[in-house]
Amino acid sequence: MNILVTGGLGYIGSHTCVALLEAGYNVIAADNLSNSKVENINKIKQITGQEILFYQIDVVNEDSVNRIFNNHKIDGIIHFAGLKAVGESVDIPLDYYYNNIVSTMVLARACKRYGVKRFVFSSSATVYGDNRVPFIENMELLPTTNPYGETKAMCERILSDIAKVPSDFSIALLRYFNPVGAHESGLIGEAPKGIPNNLMPYVTQVAKGKLEKLRIFGNDYPTIDGTGVRDYIHVLDLAEGHVAALENLKEGAHVYNLGTGQGTSVLEIVKAFEEANSIKIPYQIVERRHGDIAECYADVSKAERELGWKAKRDLVEMCRDAWKFEKNYKELVES
Ligand code: NAD
Ligand code: UFG
Repeated sequence: MNILVTGGLGYIGSHTCVALLEAGYNVIAADNLSNSKVENINKIKQITGQEILFYQIDVVNEDSVNRIFNNHKIDGIIHFAGLKAVGESVDIPLDYYYNNIVSTMVLARACKRYGVKRFVFSSSATVYGDNRVPFIENMELLPTTNPYGETKAMCERILSDIAKVPSDFSIALLRYFNPVGAHESGLIGEAPKGIPNNLMPYVTQVAKGKLEKLRIFGNDYPTIDGTGVRDYIHVLDLAEGHVAALENLKEGAHVYNLGTGQGTSVLEIVKAFEEANSIKIPYQIVERRHGDIAECYADVSKAERELGWKAKRDLVEMCRDAWKFEKNYKELVES
């Protein structure tokens, strides 16, 4: 089967390309390289010993997308391509709405035109807003506090409406919790541009000495130790969740949480990282970050029941692999 992976050279996309190749799929990746590097193709090849086809295109461009479908018989799409920085989305909302929503519509139109029935979409736990934890798929969604979150809720809505029209279109809407870590080879991982917004890449850059200390955003939340609680999931577990979703698609649009079901606080992450890698992480407690919620973790029973998928890697592996990539990345960049 030929799977088109948009955003296939990005953080989650590159790990999913690996998981797909290992599961026996042919992979065609499409990426405009706005937040990734073309070298990831070689790294995916190094890890798997297999080739992927690559198109450097913008998936909001319908002609470019159609070219792929004219050249290949596509059996399914996994749509990762998107802009994802919450803070940036407040500053340039039009870019976020245009890129994330138009790309989804262009790809859905291509599915109709070329008779592709399988579609997997990258959504986010952010669509739950400040609901009560654990977040469960049938909860009413609460408004998110930023345009990025709104694009995910809107794309879910668009795809759900499309799937209501009688046809055998099968869509999985995957709500990711907090992906962290990297492939155990240290070859692919998360390499944000500039100062990281997310916790784990910030911690690894402190470990490397590139940043002086971690700033923990608030210790007065109603949580186990006052710091924010999230559901961190190893990116390889998440990647395997996509293969499971693809293999268990059913008619209509179906939502699945992809998380571990475990909440972990910021201080617990710091401790786990220190223990896994024997490196001290200096930190300072600062003001809460605007827009943060106290707790975010998944009810994962639906994915386990319907997809036969469950995250299996623990916090130690997440911290160890994140650090291995950061060290390796430094060497690659400096050499
Ligand atoms: P990423 O930025 O590493 O990967 C996205 C890839 O898409 C990049 O390689 C980028 O170059 C590409 N891209 C963006 N717009 C494009 C376009 N118009 N045409 C072609 N390529 C384009 O991000 P990621 O962390 O791998 O996230 C993948 C998806 O998962 C995104 O849709 C994101 O919103 C979603 N998601 C991520 C997280 C997270 O914490 N990483 C959480 C929830 C949901
Ligand atoms: N945090 C710090 N210091 C930092 C960075 C983060 O204390 O330098 C804290 C945050 O306050 C939060 C936790 O670490 O309590 C996790 O923060 P992240 O920025 O890593 O992740 P978020 O949960 O805020 O958001 C992430 C993605 C969103 C996605 C969401 C889904 O960035 O795109 O997970 O749950 F929508």
